[in-house]
Amino acid sequence: MTADPAADRHVRPLADGNQLPLLGLGVWQVPNGPECVNAVRWALELGYRHIDTAQAYGNEESVGQGIRESGVPREEIFLTTKFFPRHQDPAAEAQRSLRRLGVDQVDLYIVHWPQGGPIWAWPGMEQARELGYTRSIGVSNFDVDELEQVISAGSVVPAVNQVQFNPFVYRRALLDACEQRGIVLEAYSPLGTGRHLGNPTVNQIAEATGRTPAQVLLRWCVQRNIPVIPKSTHRERIDENRRIFDFTLSDDEMTALDGLDRTHGTAQAQERKWW
Ligand code: A2P
Repeated sequence: MTADPAADRHVRPLADGNQLPLLGLGVWQVPNGPECVNAVRWALELGYRHIDTAQAYGNEESVGQGIRESGVPREEIFLTTKFFPRHQDPAAEAQRSLRRLGVDQVDLYIVHWPQGGPIWAWPGMEQARELGYTRSIGVSNFDVDELEQVISAGSVVPAVNQVQFNPFVYRRALLDACEQRGIVLEAYSPLGTGRHLGNPTVNQIAEATGRTPAQVLLRWCVQRNIPVIPKSTHRERIDENRRIFDFTLSDDEMTALDGLDRTHGTAQAQERKWW
């Protein structure tokens, strides 16, 4: 199977000048080990150039191994990891991540959730950037008021806010607030961790467009220029999920998907806080 560079041509510029590929592979809930190594390697072989992991996932070693085994040069890959906020020192933890990943620097380092308040970790995140451990810094699971607090207290505006985002959780007010502040909203759980693949509206649109339900849900994001990080450990699904740049959803199809939102366009980053 030949690698298709299409997936890596579509990037979203960040406010700090770095470029985030619109499509990435997510590895949440993939155990450290061969399954994770293979998923990362396959994704890179198939043309993905963006991998998203986290300290809390416990699989950074395998992500690093998958990158090395793929043979794709490190500088071609956008690599994200996230600060586990039950620890104290973001810069020291970044250094540990680099060791586990076997790289000199990540491209994006994110506060995984605002545990203990939104601002305490930010000076350490800025320090991690100054020390060259990461090129960009951002946050995840932050509401608008939490973003505001970080912006007021910090010297660097978060480059991204990674949140659960798909037609069923179309957080319009949060998206608008991010856009207004130059923060790129990045979508995790774009398939609803698989739950939304059986939805009748999604399936009708998939049939009408000759695509799969997963491709329809992912296309809904990238058509809005929203970076998306679907998780799969199956090669054929990783392949399927990258084929989203060669078709367009009509305005009516986008509107029908928008109508699935159950959050009433919320400004909140999540319905239930787990910390
Ligand atoms: P698997 O890893 O076994 O392939 P999300 O990205 O929203 O978290 O969703 C991930 C879930 O959706 C995983 O359970 C994954 O299963 C499944 N999945 C990912 N891509 C596809 C696909 N193209 N078709 C069916 N299921 C998929």
